[in-house]
Amino acid sequence: MKNFQNKTKLSGYIGTLKGNGSTIGFVPTMGALHQGHLSLVNNGLRENDVVVVSIFVNPTQFNNEEDLVNYPRTLEADIALLKTVDEDRIIIYAPSNGDIYGGDVQSQAFTFDGLEHEMEGAFRKGHFDGVGTIVKRLFEIVKPNRAYFGEKDFQQLQIIRKLVELHHLPVEIIGCPIHRAEDGLAMSSRNARLSIEHRAASPFIYKTLIAAKTKFGTKSAQNVTEWVNSQFKKQGLLELEYFIIADIATLKPVKRKSTKKSYRAFIAVYAGDIRLIDNIALN
Ligand code: PAJ
Repeated sequence: MKNFQNKTKLSGYIGTLKGNGSTIGFVPTMGALHQGHLSLVNNGLRENDVVVVSIFVNPTQFNNEEDLVNYPRTLEADIALLKTVDEDRIIIYAPSNGDIYGGDVQSQAFTFDGLEHEMEGAFRKGHFDGVGTIVKRLFEIVKPNRAYFGEKDFQQLQIIRKLVELHHLPVEIIGCPIHRAEDGLAMSSRNARLSIEHRAASPFIYKTLIAAKTKFGTKSAQNVTEWVNSQFKKQGLLELEYFIIADIATLKPVKRKSTKKSYRAFIAVYAGDIRLIDNIALN
């Protein structure tokens, strides 16, 4: 399995592969890989000759220094896991901060038609500037034909689609469904840091989303939102940061339902110090 730390060497190698007619799939990650990440890699392997997986904990997208310091880093285990998926067709790119940012670890400022002001953008200041900066740089290095992003981070997926549209980047963006643990908790690298108690409480998040979806069939968004808030007030271990029903195109909260639009419910919850996000399609 090829494993690069250097962008120039990686670009050169990919250039040769493309010259030989190979198609390149790309899965950007921050490592601590789990089955959710692997589902993206497998989609990439089905649709491309090779898949580049980047593993880089991007400092510029963290608005909280403690979260950055505590973010799990398990590179050896990640490489071993990817080897079990496909030893020949996966290429790893695990750069240092220096390889990506040189001496200047800073974000570029982006606008994404307002998508960046909603939800995660409102609660994590500067987050999407960091995401835009790293993903654009990675696209320039890898030059993939297709790139795979999870609906787990649905707002991020929509923002990447907008990044590609606004900057005319020659890559097809493919959204992939949320991979869940058997009890419904959306898989996340942060789940490994949950206490036993918080892990046991956390399936409540998805259960509430499913119930909210059913209620949205007959009730208003405001009604459903109030109900979800009341459910979390009764729950001792999980603290609701936001529950928002939004139009998937604008990510703005829905005021009056329209049958012509598609909606999702988005949620962010604190389980102790660990922040968990999830979402569900409503129609
Ligand atoms: P990370 O959280 O490592 O996620 C990498 C990719 O895996 C993202 O597209 C994310 O949506 C997807 N993913 C994570 N958990 C998933 C799950 N349970 N089911 C399906 N897909 C899942 O997202 C990032 O890293 C970073 O912001 C990144 C895009 C790499 C930029 O630094």
